[in-house]
Amino acid sequence: MQQSDWLSQKEFSLNESNAFWTKEAEKLDWITSWKTLQSGSFNTGDIKWFEEGELNVCYNCVDRHLDKYADKTALIWEGDSPDDYKAISFDTLHKQVMRFANVLKKIGVKKGDVVCIYLPLILEAPIAMLACARIGAIHSVIFAGFSPQSIEDRVNDAASKFIITADGGFRGGKKVALKENVDIAIKNCPTVEKVLVVEHAKNDIQLEHGRDYLYHLLANEVGEQCDVEPMNAEDPLFILYTSGSTGKPKGVVHTTAGYLLYASLTHREIFGVRENDVYWCTADVGWITGHSYVVYGPLANRTTTLIYEGVPCYPAKSRFFDIVDKYQVNIFYTAPTAIRALQAEGDEAVLANTSRDSLRVLGSVGEPINREAWYWYHDKVGKSNCSIVDTWWQTETGGIMISPGFAHKQKPGSAMKSFLGIEAAILNKDTSKEISGALSAHDYGALAIKKPWPGMMRTLWGDHERYMDTYFNVYKGYYYPGDGAYRDQEGDIWISGRLDDIISIAGHRIGTAEVESVIDSHHAVAETAVIGIPDAIKGEVIYAYVTLERDSIPTDQLKKDIIAWVRKTYGPIATIKVIQWTDELPKTRSGKIMRRILRKIAHFEEAQIGDVSTLADPECVPALIEGRIDYR
Ligand code: PRX
Repeated sequence: MQQSDWLSQKEFSLNESNAFWTKEAEKLDWITSWKTLQSGSFNTGDIKWFEEGELNVCYNCVDRHLDKYADKTALIWEGDSPDDYKAISFDTLHKQVMRFANVLKKIGVKKGDVVCIYLPLILEAPIAMLACARIGAIHSVIFAGFSPQSIEDRVNDAASKFIITADGGFRGGKKVALKENVDIAIKNCPTVEKVLVVEHAKNDIQLEHGRDYLYHLLANEVGEQCDVEPMNAEDPLFILYTSGSTGKPKGVVHTTAGYLLYASLTHREIFGVRENDVYWCTADVGWITGHSYVVYGPLANRTTTLIYEGVPCYPAKSRFFDIVDKYQVNIFYTAPTAIRALQAEGDEAVLANTSRDSLRVLGSVGEPINREAWYWYHDKVGKSNCSIVDTWWQTETGGIMISPGFAHKQKPGSAMKSFLGIEAAILNKDTSKEISGALSAHDYGALAIKKPWPGMMRTLWGDHERYMDTYFNVYKGYYYPGDGAYRDQEGDIWISGRLDDIISIAGHRIGTAEVESVIDSHHAVAETAVIGIPDAIKGEVIYAYVTLERDSIPTDQLKKDIIAWVRKTYGPIATIKVIQWTDELPKTRSGKIMRRILRKIAHFEEAQIGDVSTLADPECVPALIEGRIDYR
């Protein structure tokens, strides 16, 4: 899109928003038209789009392309080993999805059931998601790096009866166990009735008679025809769990029509996708980026989409860009943490033997992209020929909300402009009033969205009150995402980071409360508080203050045990860099831990601690400073 077209589109999308969303919705294939474009409000928390309309997401991502594009490549899968790869056309995808859907029906899955998916990044992952969508089941994808405890929490929260998993996966030349994790988890999941196992790694696994089924055996017993289920526009499409600042993960619920419209529209416009592009978003389907920009957005737009099971630097440091050359990838979308990790390996190893000439657009997601990484991405990876497209959004927003992608101007580190139909505001954190003028990095406000958009989540599974309190009751009349931001003199938006107790490790959201409860559950630990500290590659990692049980002895071995415990119980993404033993945590008289103080100490900013008179025992502060570990 030209800059002038973009500006007039933006104006149209805001001034005549009903006409804009109607025009975009007409690009989907509907079974029954909608009558009401949008109803409900942020204040009442009952937002609906296209209320009476009916459609099917799988039909829109697969079947509708078959007339003219049956032979076009839909998905390319690259395995952990460069010798393993497959490509399937839309026609083959269609047949495989229908077969998968029939297997789901055979094991008893019905419209409205929640199906948990715990798979490596193999073709069966998008196929299983689409098969659920085809028959109206609600999928809940659980990232394959998560532990049995995380599976248990997610399965139980949604009272799921079905789990799809694999006999294992491959990462960096090693086999990964998956079925075993499911076996451990479901000992505490009373609702689970059936487990479907895809054969992939040929791991030795146990099958429980009457509960566990091998996918390929059932696939031989069903036909290849499966009609699509007409779904109401507001029927849930999926649940995806994400960390909150307190308590257990939140089950973000996305519905059918609005989500699909928003994922496909943003994918098309922000990346400027062309018919013959090969598109690669490196995210796993266990995250929202994998839902919106690996599966639903690209396939709805008939884009050839690549998925890669392995890790960035195996077997060679250049693996990512070997893959780019191998498939002539045009659009590449990854996270700053991956960019920084590759940059740290050195250009010789990562870039020298690849051409990357096919690349046109380079996307970034998950955290602010720092200038150094931005310039390396732009100058070295893209050889100054590609636009860098930063994209700010969240699990809850369904799709990209702020991005320079379509504005044709490069501003390293700024997410820049709100998308078509999206009105962003920056609020004064104390007065809640909108700030219209420019701010600075040291004087940011709370980012907020002013009007409902089709891709927004509709509720948190089973907890609408938490939905209202977290997102809509903080600043009345606005959606509050929990991020800070400021605008520069030209009106461009810069994201300054989370305003709540969420740590972003390698772009993954980790709730401090969740990690603390895992550390607390270690037998030697009495109490814990964790803080995010800066890390050159991962953005943030964890600094943990740990108080031990009276009879536990603080040793280096115990630190290693606690770190291993968290890896096992939460998952390896919760990276603890430092554990500081402490006899006491700073608490108010009512027993609330004062994280502000712990953050200042871990960040070597004790000069700014300020007033500690509300603490029950102010004397603990010098002791904490004294015992601080220098990780810098
Ligand atoms: O803090 C923001 C950060 O990641 C959060 C959303 O995390 P999640 O729901 O896991 O989704 C990640 C992928 C969309 C946001 O609240 N974030 C995401 N993208 C950016 C970002 N921060 C700055 N710049 C970004 N481009």
